[in-house]
Formats: sequence, C-alpha cells, structure tokens
Amino acid sequence: MKPFVIALDGPAAAGKGTLAKRLAAHYGFAHLDTGALYRAVGLAVLRAGGDPTDPQAATRAAETLDPASLADPELRSAAAGDASSKVAAIPGVRRALFEFQQRFAAHPPTGSGSVLDGRDIGTVICPEAPVKIFVTASAEARAGRRLKELQARGEAAIYARVLEDIRARDARDAARADAPMKPAEDAVHLDTSDLDIDQVFDRAKAIVDRAIADS
Ligand code: DC
Repeated sequence: MKPFVIALDGPAAAGKGTLAKRLAAHYGFAHLDTGALYRAVGLAVLRAGGDPTDPQAATRAAETLDPASLADPELRSAAAGDASSKVAAIPGVRRALFEFQQRFAAHPPTGSGSVLDGRDIGTVICPEAPVKIFVTASAEARAGRRLKELQARGEAAIYARVLEDIRARDARDAARADAPMKPAEDAVHLDTSDLDIDQVFDRAKAIVDRAIADS
C-alpha cells in the first residue's frame, strides 16, 4: 500500500508546524518541516558570507545541504527566515530540494505515512496526497504569534516590524514564478485566526479521519 500523505500548506506562522507535529504524533507518521530545508539553505549562504539572492551560491548550498543542519536552532531566527524566502525563489534551489521531499513522502522514515508542511506540498511535491489542508490566518494574528516565538527565543522584536516582515514574506512567497504559495484546487481551507491549537487539531483530525475512511 502507498504511504499515506498529509499535505499542509499555508503562509508563515499560520500554525502549520504545530499542527503538523500533532498530526504526526497522533497517527504515528513521520514529519518533514520543508520550510526548514529552505531556512537551512539560506543560513548556509549567510554563514559562507554569500548573498541569498545569488542563484549560484544558493543552488550550490542546496545541492550540498547537510541534513544535520536541519536541527540548528538558528534556523528559527528572523535572519534565517528572511534569507529562506529569498533562496526559495531560485529554481535551482527548489530543484535540488524536490527529490529529497518526494523521497521522504514515498518512503517515510517512520510509520505508514507522513505529514509534510510547506508552501507547495499539495500543488508540486505531493499533488496526489489524499489529504491537503491550506492553513491560513490573518497577517495580524500571525504576526502576534511570531512575535511571541521570537521573544521566547530571547530576540528583541517589535510587533510592527514583525507584521511588516510577514507581509513582505507573503508577497515574495506568493509572487515568485516557480512553485508560488497557493492552495491546491482540492485543498480544504482552515482559517486559524480565532482558533486555539486544540481546535485546529480537532478540525484537521476530522478531515484526515474522513480521508482515511475513504482510502
Ligand atoms: O514555513 P517557514 O517560514 O519555515 O518557511 C521558510 C521559507 O521557505 C518561506 O519564506 C517560504 C519557503 N518555503 C517554500 O518556498 N516552500 C516550502 N515547501 C516551504 C517553505
């Protein structure tokens, strides 16, 4: 039987990561945070003293990505986030990371399925996924969550600046020519602006349970 795939897409700080971890734990599936791949590439370019908008430097970093770097706590920093959406617009980077993601979904390292969260999972990486959820929230709600996350990491951050960054990243992710962020036609939309984590999980679980029953 083909491994089950749950594709979660949506903009930054909409709650995909938390939801993906909870779903993976509940169903015993493997989880891949695909944003971490782009963050790791962005961070590698910055550390090498390069420019994340330089196609050659970014593509080389993606082709030689060290899987150990996916656990680097610096991946969650604002600098890595900014660099990630720049390298994510470069076709060579997306090509280098494509195969890794498809292999993960086809051969999940643990369990009988996987949860992949990102921007193009339902549209490009796993267009055949039996569950596709597009997780959204207002820019203001997402900025509030990201602010808390950055402050918990000890980073000095102010709301207005975080909101501005979120809007800039949304625009860049949605406007790029290669695999822009957009919901798959058959994705279920889940707006988390006014929901807490438990409510988001319950709604997603109902969607997944229905798909499992139908599969
Ligand atoms: O989800 P995140 O904030 O960790 O993602 C970091 C960046 O990576 C984001 O700006 C867009 C990009 N990304 C992408 O282009 N495709 C994905 N599947 C996941 C992330």
